[in-house]
Parts: sequence; C-alpha cells; structure tokens
Amino acid sequence: MLNLGILISGRGSNMESILKSIKKKKIPINPAVVISNKSDAKGLIIAKKLGVSIEVIESKNFKGNRTEYDKKIISTLVKYGVTPKNGLVCLAGFMRIISPEFVKKYKNKIINMHPALLPSFPGLDSQKQALDYGAKYSGCTVHFVDSGMDTGPVIIQAVVEIKENDTEKSLSKKILKEEHRIYPEAVNLFARKKIKVSGRKTHIS
Ligand code: GAR
Repeated sequence: MLNLGILISGRGSNMESILKSIKKKKIPINPAVVISNKSDAKGLIIAKKLGVSIEVIESKNFKGNRTEYDKKIISTLVKYGVTPKNGLVCLAGFMRIISPEFVKKYKNKIINMHPALLPSFPGLDSQKQALDYGAKYSGCTVHFVDSGMDTGPVIIQAVVEIKENDTEKSLSKKILKEEHRIYPEAVNLFARKKIKVSGRKTHIS
C-alpha cells in the first residue's frame, strides 16, 4: 500500500477531512505522517487524536536555505516510507513554497489544494482576490505541484457561486466545504492509480 505524508502549517481541516475519509471510505493508502513547519499548528493536535504520527520541522528560525529545509522534510517523509516510489505527499494549507529539488524528486507525487479555480487567483488570499475582481464564480482546485506557483496539472475542481452579499469569510466557508469534499476524492483516485498525467493534462479513469 502507498504511504501518505501530509504537510500542514495551521488549522489542518483539509488534513482532517483526508484522514477521516481514509478510514470511513476505505481509501487504500496508509496515513504515515503529518509534518508541520509550525509547532503550534492546530492540525497537529487533530492528527495525534486520529492516531497519526506527527513531526515538526520548524521553519521560523531555520538556518539554511529552502533546499536545505526541504531536505529535512524529505528525509522525514522517507523515514515514514513516503518515498517517491511508494508515497503521496499532500500539501494541506502548507504555507511554504517548496524547492525545485523537492518537486523534481517527487514528480507528480505531490498534490496541493488551492482555494480558487486555477489558473485564476493563484498565490495568497485567493478568496479576496475573487471578490475584489468581481468574479461570479470561484471554487477550489486540487492539482499536482510543479515548479511554478499553483501551475501544475489539475486533478479535480469544484465551483461555488459568489453572491452579492458574500464576504471573504462567507466565501471561504463555502469554498472550504468543497475542499473537504474533493481533496479526499483526489487522494482516493491517486491511491487507486486512476490518474494519468500527460504534459499539462490529467486523465481520470
Ligand atoms: C485552505 O483553504 C487551503 O485551500 C488554503 O489554506 C487553507 C488551509 O486550511 N491553501 C492555500 O491557500 C495554499 N495556497 P486548513 O489548514 O484548514 O486545511
């Protein structure tokens, strides 16, 4: 069975939805480890409660560059069996850009959740970007991570309507509900080897 590593920085609600779905929906993947770059990430408590190993690799005062930091992440993943050959890495609110070396080593084995319909509104504060733009629809995207910023091949997207009275808070809430639905779905597809990547495109069987 594949081993799953989840990288978080904070609340960990996407992580929680993935971990709970693995149990409930019998997704054939072993939740091997949750790694946070912040020791006070709330998600760590949730992961522990759900019986998953946790690790903290503090990034705040890390003496070294991004590549060196990511080397630590990689060696921790490998320690738990989350290897490029036998693993999947989910970024779940992991608020760091990952190094080209990490991306290359785990090519098409790292997936990310983004709270907008990519390629619209990449980067930070995507819900606010959508509101400020006056978009009528937004949503969320699960995609493979490549060397760009939120640019990798799309796996699943979900759409939500933006109403005139929506605020950043209300829109984020609507989008988050969809995030919790499609992220476990993407993990399930990956675990069952149903995703083929060809260039920019994915084919779901
Ligand atoms: C989620 O909304 C996720 O889409 C977003 O951060 C939030 C994390 O929440 N990720 C990004 O913006 C990545 N660029 P969570 O910790 O409760 O899963």
